[in-house]
Amino acid sequence: MLKIKDLNAYYGKSHALWDINLEAKENQITALVGRNGMGKTTTLKCIMGLIGNKTGSITLKGESIDKKQPYEIAKFGVSYVPDNLGIFPTLTVEENILLASHLSKQKGAWDLEAVYALFPKLEQLKNSKGGHLSGGEKKMLSIGRALAANPKLILIDEPTEGLAPLIVQTLAEALKKIKDVGITILMTDQNINFVKHIADYAYIIEEGRIKHKGTIEEIKKSPEVVLKYLSV
Ligand SMILES: Nc1ncnc2c1ncn2[C@@H]1O[C@H](COP(=O)(O)OP(=O)(O)OP(=O)(O)O)[C@@H](O)[C@H]1O
Ligand SMILES: [Mg+2]
Repeated sequence: MLKIKDLNAYYGKSHALWDINLEAKENQITALVGRNGMGKTTTLKCIMGLIGNKTGSITLKGESIDKKQPYEIAKFGVSYVPDNLGIFPTLTVEENILLASHLSKQKGAWDLEAVYALFPKLEQLKNSKGGHLSGGEKKMLSIGRALAANPKLILIDEPTEGLAPLIVQTLAEALKKIKDVGITILMTDQNINFVKHIADYAYIIEEGRIKHKGTIEEIKKSPEVVLKYLSV
């Protein structure tokens, strides 16, 4: 689905990503795992066309997207759930979802009802303003908005950051359901405690470079990874 080859990215003179090679296979959950400041968000932003200064190639289903504008990449079927969530605080939950749906060029199964079926909590909150939601509810809304665009690939930046265990569990189940209906997922996380339950394949990023990669089973067997990223 998504193939990244030799991606380098820069913020001014600072070299943030070094020769990143990464693939997100169709109908799989791929995780990009790394601690603070290692380059996870920058990688997702590069895919979404939000970093101007980069080299290397990014293809989606064989078509090059690395020279495209963010709105064109979205039209190609990529949805982005940023870590700051990007929801509209003054619109209601329902308006937030409907707006994402109207703005998308792709039509498909993910209408309002489908989003509410995945996250019943959002239906209960449909008349609440986006800005009044809890952290977990905002996360659900942000994912719901991304789905309403009917993407092929969804990029989710740190879905579990700062959330209570019960909500983390709800999100894990939701992500598995999203995968089961045929949407490819690329997500990031700070450690592999959550990822190991849901991802098929993982990449470990350190200081802008991929240090390890493998299936979750393989990754869990690497002593260095266990020491650094499987912390409790
Ligand atoms: N707008 C920016 N301008 C300059 N440097 C930046 C900018 N955004 C990120 N960086 C730097 O690029 C590197 C990678 O940052 P990035 O945000 O991709 O990391 P991350 O893995 O997403 O971290 P976090 O877990 O904190 O979200 C860091 O050294 C960071 O300081
Ligand atoms: Mg980040």
